[in-house]
Amino acid sequence: MDTKKTGPKALHVLQAQRREEAERSVLISCLPRTHHNKFLKYLSRHGDVNKCFFYESFGTYAVVEFSDRDGVGSLLESAAVPSISHESVVPLRSRLLAVRNISTVDTQSAPQCQPQKALPINDLIQQLSSCTNLEQQIVSLTEAHSLTEENIRLRFLVCSLLNDVASAFFPDCSIRPFGSSVNGFGKLGCDLDMFLDLDAIGAGKSNVSRSTAPYVEYQMKRSSSERAVTQGVLSVIAESLEQLGPGCVGVQKILNARCPLVRFAHQPSGFQCDLTANNRVAMRSTEMLYVFGELDPRVRALVFTVRCWARAHGITSSIPGAWITNFSLTIMVVFFLQRRSPPILPTLDQLKELAGPSQKCIIDGNDCTFSSDFDKIQMKSNSESLDRLLSDFFEFYSTFLFNKMSINIRKGKEEHKPELGPLHIQNPFETSLNVSKNVNATQLERFVTLCQESAWSLQNGGTLTALLLPSHVAAIKSRKKRKREPASERIKGLLESLRTKNNGPKKCCLDA
Ligand code: CTP
Ligand code: MG
Repeated sequence: MDTKKTGPKALHVLQAQRREEAERSVLISCLPRTHHNKFLKYLSRHGDVNKCFFYESFGTYAVVEFSDRDGVGSLLESAAVPSISHESVVPLRSRLLAVRNISTVDTQSAPQCQPQKALPINDLIQQLSSCTNLEQQIVSLTEAHSLTEENIRLRFLVCSLLNDVASAFFPDCSIRPFGSSVNGFGKLGCDLDMFLDLDAIGAGKSNVSRSTAPYVEYQMKRSSSERAVTQGVLSVIAESLEQLGPGCVGVQKILNARCPLVRFAHQPSGFQCDLTANNRVAMRSTEMLYVFGELDPRVRALVFTVRCWARAHGITSSIPGAWITNFSLTIMVVFFLQRRSPPILPTLDQLKELAGPSQKCIIDGNDCTFSSDFDKIQMKSNSESLDRLLSDFFEFYSTFLFNKMSINIRKGKEEHKPELGPLHIQNPFETSLNVSKNVNATQLERFVTLCQESAWSLQNGGTLTALLLPSHVAAIKSRKKRKREPASERIKGLLESLRTKNNGPKKCCLDA
């Protein structure tokens, strides 16, 4: 028997599997206490059902995966067009359906709904307080926040449903998720970043070798630049989602951004969606983070914990602004882990050296080559505990020379900042860009102060529940106001606040 341990699956393999599952699936609105067995029995008339689960988002929905596409075809063929007396319907049929006249059951026998949102912070803190040590708390937080199997399926299904709308214009296009939905660092409730891939249509690439033999070519509309083409295509997709897309609401065109996008809410799934096109570099950074996350379980655990800590203290925000983003925080954790001795993660340049000629990847002049072959990536053993790593993460960034140095995960070492600006994190692929250009001095200062306080707290036996409490911030603020007080007074105040925190974790109220 071959006992050789194989590494995790490559991201593109996983994605292809998920895409294929999504194409065999439908999304069905149903009553909250739908009779599960009768519902399944009805669906089975159209084909074998592989998987079915329920969830709630502006009503109850079921994701139903058939064993083949014929099941979907048969169900759609049998579906009726709604007859509505005071409204009219837009004549676009999709795999978003509603089931009628299936009986319901009492609350006890109702199918269980799968959660699609992370626990509110207060509930999480309560859950963590039953863990016996910091390490357990970190693991428990990671499990509570990670995307579930069902949520991942739903994300791919939404991409597939939107793909159906976009294919009306571009029959060979594909809409694929990227970012935290697929890189391993997604938290339940995170946005759904999508990429409209038009490469299969081959605009700009000739597929005929121009010999002297006669041939025909398409007459295609021309535009001044690739950016203008992307803006035009996204504008059309935005209009079609707004006018025709079932479940798509609040469509906004954000076409003048560095990376043009269409933002909207997909109501049946509850996802906030960002659709981009021509954004291949982001697909590579997604794959890079996926590789880092799969190399060592401590990576995801640390990233989830740091992100949760940052959110609890308003270091990150759901509103765009001068805040540090989750992506920047993830890069900061990666950099910190590259700096351990021995390193827990390789540098991007090391991954590039491992890549074979077939993995060479240049996008818009940027070298995005790296190996994602888990069998080739070997790291020296490092057995540091999560407690130690979390505490040292805070210590590391408490003393990092942000005013002079830039964070560079390509080289795995800090470099002199090429430009002014409070925080400089080199974009790993578009190396002239700063991932955290938006961050202002106040936000960086808040981050550093919280790192100092959190390092102090952990070094003095503090737990994760204490770190996530907002009173921690209050203590810091009051300490800052009392900057000129003698150190002994400040320490006394801090100890006092820690004591209060340990007594009353359930009292806090936070918007997570
Ligand atoms: N990205 C990038 N450069 C940036 C910002 C984003 O390359 N300056 C890419 C990253 O691959 C990132 C993805 O775009 O993962 C999506 O960005 P965003 O939604 O901001 O971050 P997520 O990683 O998805 O995190 P979140 O859960 O906060 O959405
Ligand atoms: Mg995102």
